[in-house]
Amino acid sequence: MHVSVVGLGFVGLTTAACLAYKGIKVTGIDIDEEKIKMISNNLLPFYEPGLAEKVTQSLKRKDLMLSTDFETLSSSKVTIITVGTPNKNDGTVDLSYLQQAAESVGKVIRKKLDFHVVALKSTVPPGTALGIVAPALERTSGKRVSEGFGICSNPEFLREGNAIQDTLYPDKVVLGIIDKKTKQIMLTLYRQFYYRYKVNLVEVNLQTAELIKYANNAFLATKISFINTIANICQQISGTDVEKVAHAIGLDKRIGPLFLKAGLGYGGSCFPKDVAAIIGIAEQHGYSPDLLKNTEKINQLQPYKAVELLKIMIPDLRDTKVAVLGLAFKPDTTDMREAVSVKIIHALKALGVTVRVYDPMAINEAKKILTNSVLYCKTMKECLSEADACIIVTEWPEFRKLTPHMLRKYMKNTILVDGRRVTSPNTFVGKIAGYVAIGHGN
Ligand code: UGA
Repeated sequence: MHVSVVGLGFVGLTTAACLAYKGIKVTGIDIDEEKIKMISNNLLPFYEPGLAEKVTQSLKRKDLMLSTDFETLSSSKVTIITVGTPNKNDGTVDLSYLQQAAESVGKVIRKKLDFHVVALKSTVPPGTALGIVAPALERTSGKRVSEGFGICSNPEFLREGNAIQDTLYPDKVVLGIIDKKTKQIMLTLYRQFYYRYKVNLVEVNLQTAELIKYANNAFLATKISFINTIANICQQISGTDVEKVAHAIGLDKRIGPLFLKAGLGYGGSCFPKDVAAIIGIAEQHGYSPDLLKNTEKINQLQPYKAVELLKIMIPDLRDTKVAVLGLAFKPDTTDMREAVSVKIIHALKALGVTVRVYDPMAINEAKKILTNSVLYCKTMKECLSEADACIIVTEWPEFRKLTPHMLRKYMKNTILVDGRRVTSPNTFVGKIAGYVAIGHGN
């Protein structure tokens, strides 16, 4: 089997590298020449643990080839499209990259003699494969869908920081299809790719597969906003602790333990975008999804809890120095997209605070957003030095090593707000001047 992957962003490159790792011939295509040059020189445009090694190995073995030329996909049997589908300001999804990619693919399919399958991995509103992609392919290829070429929806559920594991060993594979020939080709590809790993295959129609992706992310986001609501309730009731509540309710098999970690809200390139998109999609179809609107609203306010909690200990923050530990939207990534740290820092700055920041990996990315509004530190120790207070914003493992002794040694004033529950209240309460952990009712 020879597969082509169009759009070498995070999902595309991970998919291409993992397919090639499993011995499948892959041609990765992107219109961005710079990106192709970078990846060819083993430099990835983003950080993902283990991915650079996989890309380098497969380029070396020639299982992975890279190009800006769509003609190179003609020798493949399946084209996986993974181009970006950002949200527009009016709440609708921008499908222009997808439309362009489909047209370029269609022009190559026109010259092919055999049946070619186009698999959509980009996150798209229900109806896109049938209403936009299939017509674009038909127009440019001069062939009919399910006759000259096949189309399927194959959404992606991988997480940043865990992308390779999630790709090789997914909880499920969702396949939206409309014809048997396409199904057979995709099943042949899956057999080769997953080999002995038994996948839970969910076979549905195209629109349902497209909706499953949004529903999956919207549910996880709602679970987070739910536990953050419980955390905010705990904060008001002395002696309660959200960590204990989450542990107990997570033992109920109907609830489950994952995605019940309370904090300062979710960020990243997916949850905020996809929750907003599904709200927009529902409204376009005449339904107001109030639950999801509240998921979003709770998440927009949650970062400010950090500042609120700090203000209980230091009511007037003017002219203080605050150390912010963690900038990336989650650990093990340099990604700053929709990172809650940015909101928190802007709020602190508005109150007249001098902000010192430290992140083990995301400083360079952070500089593009925060420019010279903060003081960048090279180590946690440097960040804490001379600070009047500290807020933990991202749960990097390094921050778990903090002790009351360290704070006393480096900080001017030992005040700590743990926004991600990486420290234990038992260790800190009463040992430093002021301590608050999100969801821990002192
Ligand atoms: C998310 C989904 O988890 C993936 O399944 C999906 O494929 C991906 O979006 C996507 O649509 O491409 P990702 O954004 O990489 O993956 O990161 P997550 O690990 O899901 O974390 C998202 C945010 O939720 C982070 O800010 C994290 O700190 C926060 N979070 C997560 C919590 O606050 N509490 C939790 O219990 C879990």
